[in-house]
Amino acid sequence: MEIREIRLEELDTERFITEKIEEISSIVGDGLAINALSGGVDSSAVTMLGHKALGDRFKTYFIDNDLMREGEPEHIVSLFKDLGVTVELVDAKKTFFDALRGQTDPEEKREAITRSFYRDVFGELVRRTGAKYLLQGTNYTDIEETVAGIKRQHNILEQLGIDPEAMYGYKVLEPLIQLRKSAIREVARALDIPEEICNRPPFPGPALAARVIGEVTPERVRIVRNATKIVEEELSHTGAFQYLAILHEDRVTGVREGKRDYGLQIEVRCWESKDARIGSPTRLPYDVLDRLAERITTEVTGVVSVTYSITKKPPCTIEAV
Ligand code: XMP
Repeated sequence: MEIREIRLEELDTERFITEKIEEISSIVGDGLAINALSGGVDSSAVTMLGHKALGDRFKTYFIDNDLMREGEPEHIVSLFKDLGVTVELVDAKKTFFDALRGQTDPEEKREAITRSFYRDVFGELVRRTGAKYLLQGTNYTDIEETVAGIKRQHNILEQLGIDPEAMYGYKVLEPLIQLRKSAIREVARALDIPEEICNRPPFPGPALAARVIGEVTPERVRIVRNATKIVEEELSHTGAFQYLAILHEDRVTGVREGKRDYGLQIEVRCWESKDARIGSPTRLPYDVLDRLAERITTEVTGVVSVTYSITKKPPCTIEAV
């Protein structure tokens, strides 16, 4: 199916919202639908559209796969409670880590994450609730990246020849599929979603697993999560499109207290971009880089080397996996 992009300049936000609410409500009819909220702007906008369209016949879940930022599950649940939306936390840590065990190939890791979400977690939620529909925040860039064969985005099914109804037993609705991130931010503002969410840098669906090179284990995620926290604290003031920490697989020789320390490497990336299609590294001042290195090597156990990526997209991509 050909999808037509609605560019930010041509978007009539109010009309878009009214049309999507009517569309969701007429497709779902008097049935039930569910969605997974990650706290990003896309899934937050879908959550509000679904609730406006379906009220009590729409259930929102936060899938706690232990791949999110520190404190994120509880923070997002409480933020949406303040908006009048009940979000149920689903503990899916074991499902995801079992699927990721021993996986090192980037596309296989992405596939394991897709399977965990769609077959294992959403499949079970649909059976439990009797819902026939899953609403999700797939955007125009996700489709492009997958169709172009750059990366399999965690939320793409149809373009990879997957029929969710036949495979998992539910239909998928994607109200934001014609929009890119900048347009979705406008829709989110019009839906009264707090600025903290509307302004958030993008965060990938595979979450911190997209930033661990090699096997994704709870311990390696913990390391990249701690480094991410520091990177976000130090770089949020830059207003850059996205900033992140990556844990490398190779170790390097370091020195601590006069002794050899064969330790971990963290790579920091900070991107200037409009819509993630192309990007270039932010020209960060040297004292900012210096503080990042100092904090990461002292606060994240085992890290002896911090590097800053100076590569553009393309040929690099924004995430490492
Ligand atoms: P890349 O790494 O392909 O990322 O340059 C482009 C943008 O997409 C985000 N990203 C994802 N978003 N599901 C998503 O919803 C995914 O599987 C995924 N992978 C990457 C990434 O953070 C960047 O903003």
